[in-house]
Order: sequence, then C-alpha cells, then structure tokens
Amino acid sequence: MTTEMHSTLGLKESIEQRRAARAFRSDPIPEELLGEILRLGVRSPSGYNLQPWRFVVVREQENKEKLKACAFNQRQVGEAPVVLICCGDRRVGDSDYIESVIQMGMETGGVNEQFANVMREQIPALFEYHPCFENVEAWTNRHTMLAVAHIMIVAKSFGVDSCPMEGFVSAQVKEAFQIPEEVDVCCLLPLGYATEPFKQYGGRFEIDQVFFAESYGEYFEL
Ligand SMILES: Cc1cc2nc3c(=O)[nH]c(=O)nc-3n(C[C@H](O)[C@H](O)[C@H](O)COP(=O)(O)O)c2cc1C
Repeated sequence: MTTEMHSTLGLKESIEQRRAARAFRSDPIPEELLGEILRLGVRSPSGYNLQPWRFVVVREQENKEKLKACAFNQRQVGEAPVVLICCGDRRVGDSDYIESVIQMGMETGGVNEQFANVMREQIPALFEYHPCFENVEAWTNRHTMLAVAHIMIVAKSFGVDSCPMEGFVSAQVKEAFQIPEEVDVCCLLPLGYATEPFKQYGGRFEIDQVFFAESYGEYFEL
C-alpha cells in the first residue's frame, strides 16, 4: 500500500529556500519519502528520453565513510543519511538500449512506429557527429545534472536538504563503488535534514548580468 505524499513547500519557496547544506542531522529520511523524491527527480527531461542518469544510493555508514574519504573528507558525506553518487552512463547510444527506450515509449503511447524509426536513425548520428556537445561525457553530464536539480528541488519541497558536490576524486569513487568504465561520476548529492553551521547565502547576479537580449552580450531589459 502506498500513502500519497504531499510536499510541504511550494515550488517558489522550495527554490528560494534550497541551500547547499554543509552539515546534517542523523535523522533518516523515511523510505517512502525517499522513494517519492527519487521518482519525481527522474521525471527530468532528456534528449530522446534516453535518461542517461544512474545513481548509487549510499546509506550504510561504512560506505558513507568510504565515500567521504574519496571526497576530501567533507563532513556532509559522512553525516547525511543518504548520499547519491550521481552518474552518467555513456552506453545509452548502444542499439539495445535505444530499443529499450523505444519499447518504453511504445508502451506509454509516446512513441509510434514512425518515431521509433526516427530514433533508430537520429540517435546514433547524434553520438557520431555530436554537433552540440564536445563528447558523450559532456552530454551525459548535462542530463544527469538536470535530474540532480530536479531531485534537489523536489527534496526541498518535502523539507529534505541537499548539497551538490564536485569535491571528490572520480577515479577513487569509481573504484570503491564498482562503477563501470563507461559510466562517469557527475556529482555527489548528500540528502537529509540540515543543521548548523549554515553557510551564509552567497547571492546571485542580477538578471541583466546573466541574460542577454537577442545576441550574446546585448543588454536585456524586462
Ligand atoms: C556542481 C556543484 C558542485 C559543488 N561542489 C561542492 C562541494 O564539493 N562541496 C560543497 O560544500 N559545496 C559544493 N557545492 C555547493 C556550492 O558551493 C553552492 O551551491 C553555492 O555556493 C551556492 O550556495 P547555495 O546552493 O546554498 O545557494 C557545489 C555546487 C554545485 C552546483
């Protein structure tokens, strides 16, 4: 039996109140809530719906300590009740995998025979010519981080804090957690309930500093 979960914060509040938490209480995240956060997090979009993100869910203290050692001993990795090792799998261009995405789409009605053939033709070409990315790792990273963003916002809406982290040694994480060669570690994501010390909000640039009108560098005004 599943209980319907309701978020406690609205979208705007979740975005405004999410902070990168550097310290966590040891309280666990209820299983059902964790499941809901992960389920909603991977509703994130992806090119051709290929969903290249993969996550190792680390909850055992012994494994968190192992991961912390690969992450410059950052305390949040050892403290948070759940740490996700967020990965991108470069094998999503394999034909078997493409067929599995087509199959899923056909079952939900999102893909018909005609579009299936478009996918069979265009996806291998995308990875061969990669006109909009440098290499496949850049492409998988792009998508995985979108899912990570979804997870962080969804988690916050349920009162669960997070900390996206690039402070780790990828080769060490891969070896310690049996991550295949074709899979890259994009970030670590501790999840749980934040405690002090809280970091002061660092601010954000103004809209006109990061948005441009019509061409790069042109002043944008609302
Ligand atoms: C990809 C990425 C990597 C990050 N790596 C770390 C990290 O290794 N350790 C850490 O404490 N914070 C890390 N942060 C958190 C940032 O420092 C934080 O998001 C930024 O200072 C803005 O603060 P806020 O998220 O609380 O608004 C990272 C954030 C991102 C998006």
